[in-house]
Amino acid sequence: INVGIIFGGKSAEHEVSLMSAASIMRAIDKEKYNVIPIGITKRGNWMMYDGPIEKIENGQWENISNKLIKDRPEENIFSVIPIGDKSLGDKIPPVLIDKIDVVFPVLHGPYGEDGTIQGLLEMADIPYVGAGVLASSLCMDKVYAKKIFEFEGLSVVDYFVIFKDELEKNIKDYISAVEKNFNYPVFIKPANLGSSVGITKAHNRDELINGLHEAAKYDRKIMVEKCIECREIECAVLGNDKPKASVVGEIIPSHEFYDYEAKYFDDGKSKMVIPADIPEEISDKIRKIAVKAYKALECSGLSRVDFFLEKGTNKIYINEINTMPGFTKYSMYPLLWQETGLPYDKLIDKLIQLALE
Ligand code: ADP
Ligand code: DAL
Ligand code: MG
Repeated sequence: INVGIIFGGKSAEHEVSLMSAASIMRAIDKEKYNVIPIGITKRGNWMMYDGPIEKIENGQWENISNKLIKDRPEENIFSVIPIGDKSLGDKIPPVLIDKIDVVFPVLHGPYGEDGTIQGLLEMADIPYVGAGVLASSLCMDKVYAKKIFEFEGLSVVDYFVIFKDELEKNIKDYISAVEKNFNYPVFIKPANLGSSVGITKAHNRDELINGLHEAAKYDRKIMVEKCIECREIECAVLGNDKPKASVVGEIIPSHEFYDYEAKYFDDGKSKMVIPADIPEEISDKIRKIAVKAYKALECSGLSRVDFFLEKGTNKIYINEINTMPGFTKYSMYPLLWQETGLPYDKLIDKLIQLALE
């Protein structure tokens, strides 16, 4: 079975994707699957890659033994069908046709986890791992995901939405609205991103203003959220029509919140506790909500559903669903399944089988 593993991508989570993809390439069953690595640069160029896996992780893959896919249609692995404006040149995404039986789009964030590449693969009639177009785009947009969670009766943290153009005109009004409704600190987030990129915890008005401008670098839609004093609990869900929930895990961030550095560059000082040390009654509730939310957003394949468990009250808030969660051997999603009895290599196999169902 030829598996196209797509990595990199145009989003601010490019580097995270490189780590996830390299890990999958090392662990995948090579007897069963023939891996075809396909990289997307930050600029959006598609390249075939046949070099060592380490060079994916350290970002050097772009410089060695690559050719732009559009330069080698003669290999007939890909047929290059330009989409859109031809003046885009290298940026034209190819539609993958022959030889690839299934794609594992190991991409995080916009242009990877948001339904765009899923749509491309649908058009090309190629099965792929993970959520479809609708679920991907809904889960990527934190505001729309919350609207559906609320519709399903699940508790979400209170928030405001602010658009970038309005922000320039009316920042004072927004600030007074936020301050009227929430106490500091508050969280400011781009609506469509992940890995905490562009997120600020603001403790005062100046930090709120800076945080709004920071988030606006990444998205035209910005959220300001009430801060919850909480424990962070995550649950891994796997499956298509009959999804199953893993045991739940807790994140104990090394920083004031689980920011980019605490997630990826803090020498393991952030802790994952698996299974989470919480009463069974609460973890069972969380697992049920995780499956309910997964179904409500029509997820398939896999998703990690993230929660806040409020200190003192034990109120469960659903925070977000990640349809392509971090996927190194040491990431929460695979570790949760390992603890539930499905080791990393078997999990990869299962995901590919779910894609081919
Ligand atoms: P991302 O999609 O980038 O992971 P999240 O919404 O999960 O964005 O926020 C990243 C981190 O910020 C969370 O893991 C948590 O540590 C912190 N955080 C976000 N929102 C809140 C909140 N409302 N209250 C408390 N902590 C929060
Ligand atoms: N967005 C990152 C990859 C995660 O949620 O794990
Ligand atoms: Mg998160």
